[in-house]
Amino acid sequence: MHRTLLSIVMTAALLLALAAALRPNQLKAQLAPNPNDAVAVTRPGAQTGGFDRVITTNNAQLIAQGRQIFRYDTFGDEAFWGDTLKLHQAIAGAANGGVGPGVSPKTALSVGLKVDMDALPAAVVSAIKAGQVNLDDPKTTLTLLQLNSVVGVTGRFNSSGQITSIGIQCAFCHSTVDDAFASGIGHRLDGWSNRDLNVGAIVALSPDLTVVNNVLGVDDATTRKVLAAWGPGRFDAELFMDGKGLRPDGKTAATLIPPAFGLAGTNLHTYTGWGSITYWNAFVAVLEMHGKGNFFDSRLDDATQFPVAARNRFGHVQLPEDQDLVTPKLGALHAYQLSIPAPTPPDGSFDTAAAGRGDTLFGGKAHCTNCHVEPMLTEPGWNMHKPAEIGVDDFQANRAPDKQYRTTPFHGLFTHMKGGFYHDGRFATLLDLVNHYDTQFNLGLTAAEKNDLVEYIKAQ
Ligand code: HEC
Ligand code: HEC
Repeated sequence: MHRTLLSIVMTAALLLALAAALRPNQLKAQLAPNPNDAVAVTRPGAQTGGFDRVITTNNAQLIAQGRQIFRYDTFGDEAFWGDTLKLHQAIAGAANGGVGPGVSPKTALSVGLKVDMDALPAAVVSAIKAGQVNLDDPKTTLTLLQLNSVVGVTGRFNSSGQITSIGIQCAFCHSTVDDAFASGIGHRLDGWSNRDLNVGAIVALSPDLTVVNNVLGVDDATTRKVLAAWGPGRFDAELFMDGKGLRPDGKTAATLIPPAFGLAGTNLHTYTGWGSITYWNAFVAVLEMHGKGNFFDSRLDDATQFPVAARNRFGHVQLPEDQDLVTPKLGALHAYQLSIPAPTPPDGSFDTAAAGRGDTLFGGKAHCTNCHVEPMLTEPGWNMHKPAEIGVDDFQANRAPDKQYRTTPFHGLFTHMKGGFYHDGRFATLLDLVNHYDTQFNLGLTAAEKNDLVEYIKAQ
């Protein structure tokens, strides 16, 4: 019955198309006053679902490829993290052909690295459970790397099982695990920012930071001081552009690692709105992870704002097509990030009644929706603000081309409450943040209203 119906529809469509071809303007006008509809009527293929299927298949493929890239693709950055910084040698330790004491699983977990339990064979899981695995031995770390179970880190091994290099992925900073097995060991949570990860301490394991010192134009002690100041959950994406390791007040210039979920529909990305998701993906893959790929942004030629980037021509990274390991992956990587939703706050993690009252305040007395438009929680359109508008200093804003801050779409905030709020964690608690807005905008909120707003934020 369906098949008959379909063939009738198709025949009708063909006839209509034929008629349209003969008397195009007249028939189109009669059938479809809306010009978009006219296209559908005059193209029989569009009614068979054929191209719809093409779209659905493409979508599934993009997401599968994007997940693979996000989790496992180093874009060839082993050339930096391994061959140049020699981090694999520091991890292996002298006893395993590397240098120094090596990095045991305990140490690795203590600097925030996570282990994907789904990558561990059942035998290894039971051995860990039975206490038969030595978590103080760097050799065990090498085994975990060989099993490809360290989230966001890939070791390269030669045929005799020796580690020869190491690379990192997006998942290094933007994934964590659910601790289902033990603290730091569990199922992957892509898009969740790893607020335990001490990137500075990990980079500082490198026995040879010469290349970083040279790019920044500073001595080894300065580089190591800057890295030591980062602390857990932070990374400084602008350091390699402007060479500013510390803020004027002497504190680290690194920002908190943001989540990479819940971003669909948001215009500009990063705390300071450098560009779209795909802009930033190319930026990070090439300029931060030091993967091999093309990257263009003439804004980085401004030698006053970006002395390091301008000197090193970071806005004009051009490789022969067969060496570009980034550009061909941008589409799938973008699609995957758009598909990662913000997780829902667990039951009991906020007070429902208070959050309901907070919702009314958010769009009412507190005027938060002047910027955080629901349900996006950022502006549809241009989502940037001058530092003075939100009552904060301009240090971090001035490190980006637009010199402004982007309205954070703060869904899923419960996943990254460690480290404080705003780009640099300047507000230790959500109440501090609400108090700031209360003063900045003369809101006259009562203590109860502030509490309601806090619960609303936690409920998003
Ligand atoms: C070493 C840690 C690190 C790695 C690796 C990393 N990022 Fe990030 N990411 C950050 C930090 C820090 C920021 C904030 C930068 C800023 O605002 O200046 C950020 C920002 C972002 C944002 C913007 C989020 C928002 O709220 O708009 C996206 C999207 C993102 N990263 C995706 C990626 C992808 C994709 C990769 C892999 C190609 C990647 N990141 C690799 C640390 C990292
Ligand atoms: C003038 C625009 C504007 C208004 C009004 C505004 N915000 Fe924001 N909001 C921002 C910007 C910009 C940021 C990012 C600041 C940063 O990271 O330095 C932000 C960040 C946030 C964050 C993210 C914190 C984090 O660390 O991820 C929360 C939560 C928030 N605002 C809540 C509110 C609440 C509640 C109100 C109303 C009382 C409000 N905002 C009013 C622009 C605004």
